[in-house]
Amino acid sequence: MAKSKIEHVCSACGASHPKWSGQCTSCGEWNTLVEEFATDPLPVIAPALSAPQPIGDVDPHTSAPVPTGLDELDRVLGGGLVAGSVTLLGGEPGIGKSTLLLQLLAERAGRALYVTAEESAQQVRQRAERLGAVRPELLLQAETALPHITAAVADTAPGIVVVDSIQTVHDPALGSPPGSVVQVRGCAQQLVQIAKQRNVPIVLVGHVTKEGSLAGPRVLEHVVDTVLAFEGERHHALRLLRASKHRFGPTNELGLFEMAGHGLIGVPDPSELFLGDRRTGVPGSAIVPTVEGQRPLVIEVQALTTPAPPNVPARRTTQGVDTNRLALLLAVLQQRARVDVRAHDVYASTVGGVRLAAPGLDLGVCLSVVSAVNDRPLPADLVAFGEVGLGGEVRQVAHAPRRAAEAARLGFRRAIVPRSSPDADGLHLVRVATIAEALAAAGL
Ligand code: TYD
Ligand code: MG
Repeated sequence: MAKSKIEHVCSACGASHPKWSGQCTSCGEWNTLVEEFATDPLPVIAPALSAPQPIGDVDPHTSAPVPTGLDELDRVLGGGLVAGSVTLLGGEPGIGKSTLLLQLLAERAGRALYVTAEESAQQVRQRAERLGAVRPELLLQAETALPHITAAVADTAPGIVVVDSIQTVHDPALGSPPGSVVQVRGCAQQLVQIAKQRNVPIVLVGHVTKEGSLAGPRVLEHVVDTVLAFEGERHHALRLLRASKHRFGPTNELGLFEMAGHGLIGVPDPSELFLGDRRTGVPGSAIVPTVEGQRPLVIEVQALTTPAPPNVPARRTTQGVDTNRLALLLAVLQQRARVDVRAHDVYASTVGGVRLAAPGLDLGVCLSVVSAVNDRPLPADLVAFGEVGLGGEVRQVAHAPRRAAEAARLGFRRAIVPRSSPDADGLHLVRVATIAEALAAAGL
């Protein structure tokens, strides 16, 4: 017999606590604990998937990815979707999850099942018209009850299933309300079983909500094979797709889309997009070639500095640049290059809000800040990359030749680079050992 008790479950990470508290001690989020009626997980006895066999008899190709037809998605997935895998697509409401998945089903040959547990069938049909996704073998089911969904999968035997969203699907056998951790996890577990048994890929939509009112995608991280995050600013057309977990490939690739009138369009040449609106001759702008996954990307880093009001700590505000990293670089500039930033409020951002953790951005951030402080623009044909250490030294970063090649391709002529950088065709390299040398080389 399943026993029931009250527990307090974090809707952000799924950790269970015997007592309520304001903060989850597991993930540190505030106000995310909700009371749930805990039932022991239903014993799900799956039929054996396979008998033991010599390892050499295992077909290595059954888990090969199948291209989705959306190049930017395939890039992030390392080739495509794997049969029998479950992928969670997380993102804030309105970012374009339903659009992306409908486009995925439009591209895919064969029978596909789109379960809409959130919008009506009419709404989805309208979107499909807009996306050119109406085709005879794309089946639509407006349903929230999991048993009906699993029955439909068994009846229609689709080659791919999308469930939009996992938070609005519920299994009456589980008891808890829809959207609760117990429901979301329980339903996802059953869908994982179906994916494995039928060898069909399933994609789940998971809303990310700041309020934590719905169990978030992190609750499902351990249940699914792949977790994708779809990000971007609502009022900007650029959308970024990354994998935070991927059982079948790397997690460092970045997929880029633009939301347009007829759905999402892949952006194969992002450098041109990022530099498209650039104004040269403006103080506070530096150009940095980076490499995200396998793809070179040239982006603009901008800084703005204003006099800080007296007697309050100076502001350091960032977008796309790590705030702690900015604080560290400002300290290095202060101590190692004698640039007085104490009395300035400093704002730093990457254009398009692209979040890049790469240390190769350091030199560009420093140059943009000093350019802003001195109110002197950097040369228009100059790029810079390198990691900046606490001693003010400029260190080498990965993929220096590819960074340089991409900058040259886009028409830049000069680069301030770490001392050990190899020569690059079409680019005059200024090799520097310290941040002070870099500032001098940039004419600051
Ligand atoms: P949607 O896919 O519904 O987002 P989600 O499923 O993540 O909540 O996309 C919502 C937004 O995208 C909405 O504001 C309208 C916009 N959109 C376009 O700009 N072009 C399109 O072709 C489509 C279908 C949507
Ligand atoms: Mg949606």
